[in-house]
Formats: sequence, structure tokens, C-alpha cells
Amino acid sequence: MDIQTFFKMTYGLYVVGSVHEGRVNAQIADAIMQISNDPVTIAVSLNRENLTNEFVKKSKKISVNILPEDLDMSVVNHFGMQSGRAVDKFATVDYETGVTGAPILKDNSLGYFEGEVIDVIDVYTHTIFVVRPVEAKLFSDKAPISYNEYRERKARAIREQKATGGRYKCAICGYIYDEQAEGKKFDELPEDYECPVCHAPKRVFEKI
Ligand SMILES: Cc1cc2nc3c(=O)[nH]c(=O)nc-3n(C[C@H](O)[C@H](O)[C@H](O)COP(=O)(O)O)c2cc1C
Repeated sequence: MDIQTFFKMTYGLYVVGSVHEGRVNAQIADAIMQISNDPVTIAVSLNRENLTNEFVKKSKKISVNILPEDLDMSVVNHFGMQSGRAVDKFATVDYETGVTGAPILKDNSLGYFEGEVIDVIDVYTHTIFVVRPVEAKLFSDKAPISYNEYRERKARAIREQKATGGRYKCAICGYIYDEQAEGKKFDELPEDYECPVCHAPKRVFEKI
């Protein structure tokens, strides 16, 4: 099988939230699709290791925030590259809670829906949650970002980073790693390098 075939399938990019015992959490997901029109049902596939999966399984409540084309890429790092088991992702993010109690992003989202889980199917590493939306709102008429556009933007950023060198910003707390001041290329830092301010992992740093 040519694995590249699967990358030619199209998906969007979302921040999927949930709530459990008053605590909210969310993660990035692309594996979301509408199953039926009347009534509307949506399938959301979440890894069984994720805290968001655990919260959705327990509460049956879920929110899906739709990310826009002009997305600030640090949102993907924040929600997609660290777990709510290690950090409180909403300590630094503006949000409100909707009718289900699941978190709704105030920034970097073009709209959302929230709903109740009506079916749960475990498939190997992931769980498919079948969701009946109970509320849906649009904030703007911006185009949504596709998973493919995200991957291309990311690849472009990595190419530019390799070509120039310079300064790198921690996407979590804003700390700047300056190669000139530190006397060492960022790429040459060990893989277990952590932000000296907030201890975020090396992978969340972005070239600026
Ligand atoms: C671009 C991108 C797409 C992702 N898509 C999914 C997905 O569809 N399903 C999933 O379970 N995890 C996906 N992830 C991984 C989760 O967002 C990630 O494991 C997250 O840290 C889980 O957080 P949590 O433990 O707080 O729930 C994606 C990550 C990125 C960066």
C-alpha cells in the first residue's frame, strides 16, 4: 500500500473540547466528518490515550471549534502537541462554555458546534464518537483551513527555518531562543531541550 494515498484525502482542522467534573480540556483533531443530514450526526475520531477522549467518554459532551484559513499556528501547537494531563491548556486561552459545558474558543475560530454523544465505537487505537449537535454558531465568513493546507504551511515554515537560522519563539509562553546570543543553532539543541521559562518541549518552538 502507498501510504501517500491517504494524504490525498481531504479533512479540516478543529479544536475538539470536552468537560468532566467542571474541568475543560481540548485537543486538535482532523478526523471529523458529517455522517447524516436529517438529523445531523457527526463522527469524531479521538485517540484512546488522549485526555479529551477520556472526558468525552465520561461526560458525553463535546464541542468542535472550526479553525480558519488565517490560523495562528501556535494554536495547533498549544492544543495538539501537549496533553491536558501535563498542562491546563485553558489557563492561557480565552473561552466560554456553551449549553453542554464544553469549551468554545473566543479567538482563532470561525464557528463551532457542540453536542451530545449518542454512540461510541472503539477501533484499535481510536474511538469514534457519534455526535448529535445541540447548538451551532458561525462567528465569521472566513474560509476554514484544511488539514492539507496546515501540512503545507508547516512544511514551508520548516524549509524557511533551515534556510535562514535566527530566533525561535516558544509557542506556549513567548520565550525567545536567540541563536546568536546563545552561540548555538536551535537545530543542534538536544531533543529533550525544554523552554527555560515554561518547560514546554522543543517541538513547540517556532522560527520567527
Ligand atoms: C495537525 C494535527 C492533527 C491531529 N489530529 C488528531 C485527530 O484527528 N485525532 C486525535 O485523536 N488526535 C489528533 N491529533 C493529536 C492530538 O491533538 C494530541 O495528541 C493532543 O496533545 C491530545 O491532547 P489531550 O491529551 O489533552 O486530549 C492531531 C494533532 C495535530 C498536530
